[in-house]
Amino acid sequence: LTAFFTPKHLAGKRVVITAGPTFEPIDPVRGITNLSSGKMGYALAQAAQQAGANVVLVSGPTALAEPYGVQRMDVQTAQQMLAAVQAHIADTDVFIAVAAVADWRVAEPSAQKIKKQAGSLPSLAFVENPDILATIAALPNPPYCVGFAAESENLAEYAQAKRAKKNIPLIVGNVAQTALGADDNELLLCDAAGTQRLPRASKQVLAQQLIEAISQRLG
Ligand code: CTP
Ligand code: CA
Repeated sequence: LTAFFTPKHLAGKRVVITAGPTFEPIDPVRGITNLSSGKMGYALAQAAQQAGANVVLVSGPTALAEPYGVQRMDVQTAQQMLAAVQAHIADTDVFIAVAAVADWRVAEPSAQKIKKQAGSLPSLAFVENPDILATIAALPNPPYCVGFAAESENLAEYAQAKRAKKNIPLIVGNVAQTALGADDNELLLCDAAGTQRLPRASKQVLAQQLIEAISQRLG
């Protein structure tokens, strides 16, 4: 029913969304990941679809069902996520980066399971992952780019700094410190005009409000 009553603000628009964590392998049975559940990104994908958009959801490993009417691409690593986004970005109107992308990956994952050896500990070297959002924002004719920021302090200030650094028009701060994995959240929209608070609500409701805010900014 929600789908029926949602105004079709994004009719005819193409939207690409990243969601969930990434998984960076250490060896064939181990890796580095984080506590992102994917709930906010999946809710946004569903809300954009209900607003009439054609939606591609590039998702790291999550336990969530594919949103109705959305094309989901499953990936594991940040590099795979970037490649999947690049493969779908042509003619995209809006790119929303919700994924909690690992900032670093293991430089040389072991081809075989690393065995325990008495008296010796493994050591891991890291390399920086590509910044997917900044890469897309730097394209010659970029889509409208939206980022998310999870900060533990100074949310508005750090989010605005991140928006400037990545050269994107809108960044969304997670106000709730416990947003990761929760069903509720509280958001702070930060753009060139200043900040706007979306008070505590379910991720579904916030997703609809954010999609509406984005479509207003698209004009
Ligand atoms: N992001 C991305 N690719 C990365 C890292 C982050 O696309 N390799 C995106 C996230 O999806 C999010 C935004 O950038 O929309 C901000 O992510 P965040 O981790 O808060 O910022 P970083 O630039 O990685 O800075 P830091 O983790 O040091 O705060
Ligand atoms: Ca980061």
